Amino acid sequence: MSILENLVCPVCHAPLEHTQTTLTCVKCRQTYSINRTFPDLLVGARFEDDFCECLWCNEENTGRFLSENYLAPLFTRLQENARHRPAKVLSIGCGVGTDVEALCERGFDAYGIDSGNRSRYWERRKQPERYAVANAKYLPFENESFDFIVMGCVLPHIGVGNDTYVTQPDYVEQRARTVSEMVRVTKKDGYLIVSSPNKRCPLDFFHRRSVSSHMPRLHWPWESFLLSLNDYRHFFLKENGCRRIDVMPLRGYWGFFSSSKYLLGKILQLPVRFYFENILSWRAFGFIRKTAVNPWLILLIKK
Ligand SMILES: C[S@@+](CC[C@H](N)C(=O)[O-])C[C@H]1O[C@@H](n2cnc3c(N)ncnc32)[C@H](O)[C@@H]1O
Repeated sequence: MSILENLVCPVCHAPLEHTQTTLTCVKCRQTYSINRTFPDLLVGARFEDDFCECLWCNEENTGRFLSENYLAPLFTRLQENARHRPAKVLSIGCGVGTDVEALCERGFDAYGIDSGNRSRYWERRKQPERYAVANAKYLPFENESFDFIVMGCVLPHIGVGNDTYVTQPDYVEQRARTVSEMVRVTKKDGYLIVSSPNKRCPLDFFHRRSVSSHMPRLHWPWESFLLSLNDYRHFFLKENGCRRIDVMPLRGYWGFFSSSKYLLGKILQLPVRFYFENILSWRAFGFIRKTAVNPWLILLIKK
């Protein structure tokens, strides 16, 4: 199914009338364009990330691996007793969009939105009609539209200037608005799966100084760019009334594609893989995932 059939005005949430090239809100008369089959409902600024073929091709593998090995099995388990199928999924800040593609192949009714330049890669996707340009702060969907929301490493990039690690003065308000939009479009009893590096862990393996560098970024555990479990609890539980947050095991999340390309990387990844896939994933050690020794938070949030 096309994302067009699911879209409403991102400002007032009224239905849209569409021609081949434009979408017009029936209520506020705001118009939006359709560029090369992709509806552009962006309200506010684009996310101006630099084009990086090497990183984005790697993300194509990572997104597919994530959906096949982590998201699809998790959603299937959570859906066991549900009546309606296939489950409807929205990936917010889906980047190159392979997570959506792989979920569709596994029978989910999945869609992706993004406000940045990785959207150039959507033309490569098997079902390009499932993507739209939109801002996570103004989602173009009706209330309670999705069973599952996926957000992989996006919230730290909201409220920062031009793909940097420097937050803007109103970054808390921008993130709060994003979370309330995410919760608004999630069905009652639906789930949100949100991940990002852990602010409390001073080693950030996921935002390196350059693509060629393999050194983690060192940071203070109170910096404003990243979020901690407490920050997420504040936004989702306290401000938006979600019912619970579980910190999930890491096994199956990362495919370690970039470090698998060269011998030293293959060797160095062994202890990291053991740590992620065993120590941080064993049920008995669940409590340590909530602490500063866990570099990557994967949160399962129940609305
Ligand atoms: C680190 S990338 C993660 C991409 C993908 N989720 C993944 O895990 O590979 C962050 C993504 O968030 C998107 N993004 C940043 N701010 C956004 C916003 N306000 N609305 C929608 N997407 C946003 C960027 O364009 C980028 O694709």
